[in-house]
Amino acid sequence: IKHIGVFTSGGDSPGMNAALYAITKTAEVNGINVSGFRKGYEGLIDGDLVQLKSHELQKLTQKGGTILKTARSKRFLELEGRKKALQTLNVNKIDALIAIGGDGTFKGLLAFSEICDIPFIGIPGTIDNDISGTDYTLGFDSAVNTAIENIDKIRDTAESHNRVFIVEVMGRDSGYIGIHSGLMVGADAILIPESGTDFINLLGKVKNYDSEDAFLIVVSEGDEIGAELVSSKIKEVNPNVDLRITKLGHIQRGGNPSALDRMLGIRLGVEAVKSLLQSKKNVMIGILNNQLHLTPFNEVVKQHQVNKELHELLELFGT
Ligand code: F6P
Repeated sequence: IKHIGVFTSGGDSPGMNAALYAITKTAEVNGINVSGFRKGYEGLIDGDLVQLKSHELQKLTQKGGTILKTARSKRFLELEGRKKALQTLNVNKIDALIAIGGDGTFKGLLAFSEICDIPFIGIPGTIDNDISGTDYTLGFDSAVNTAIENIDKIRDTAESHNRVFIVEVMGRDSGYIGIHSGLMVGADAILIPESGTDFINLLGKVKNYDSEDAFLIVVSEGDEIGAELVSSKIKEVNPNVDLRITKLGHIQRGGNPSALDRMLGIRLGVEAVKSLLQSKKNVMIGILNNQLHLTPFNEVVKQHQVNKELHELLELFGT
């Protein structure tokens, strides 16, 4: 392998730059050039690439977002787009590809592998932590830290006014950020898409809520859940309640990566290049039980379930 292409795709997440640094450094040590495609699959289609140098990336490890920029590419979903991407790889003599992103990114690579047979390696990068084959995705820890920092602030005002506060956190149908942040701020209720019964418990509690203290609810966003829905249900059972909603939104995606995410980016980035050197292809590098772990793309689907222990914690503290 002489020339690796790398890109970030889907939602940005803190730690992506650390992974880019680690990939470039490891490649350089092994005499390999690295080109970065800008805006995810879009850059691959348009031939928009820059040469990456580890000495330039070194000081960016601390920076959130992704210096390569990112996108959710619609064009790559079409065969036409993928054919153009293949052309770009051929023209630039790229003989391996590393992608950092979420499940949509890996689905893209799977489809691409039908017409392109250079090796692909994936690194899980999403704040949602919803990828199987890894205990943690890049950016999840930072997002939870951002969430708890902000929910702590909301608690101050909620307690001062004895208000019910609904704080909506991100997760696109995944309760990981919700359950972690909710537990860590001592929420009175935590609602996540994976758990059905806690809604009933919540309404029972709120019905008897006497406005003598704050009542903090952390709810994950999702198709069948979310702050507005919770708010309207609460008002049905207790119309007099003094209630406010805060959606933390995209601040959860930004900010400097936590120590854990920087380290994760470095470990996964180094291993991605090492795997290519060991002739591995079409696998995602993850961390399971603190050990590096390779999972074939076709097993990497959006099915990282909230485990039994977390559900038990939710029952004990969050309902
Ligand atoms: O997948 C990461 C994520 O932040 C989800 O939690 C959220 O639902 C989604 O991306 C938001 O996407 P966008 O930035 O495209 O609005």
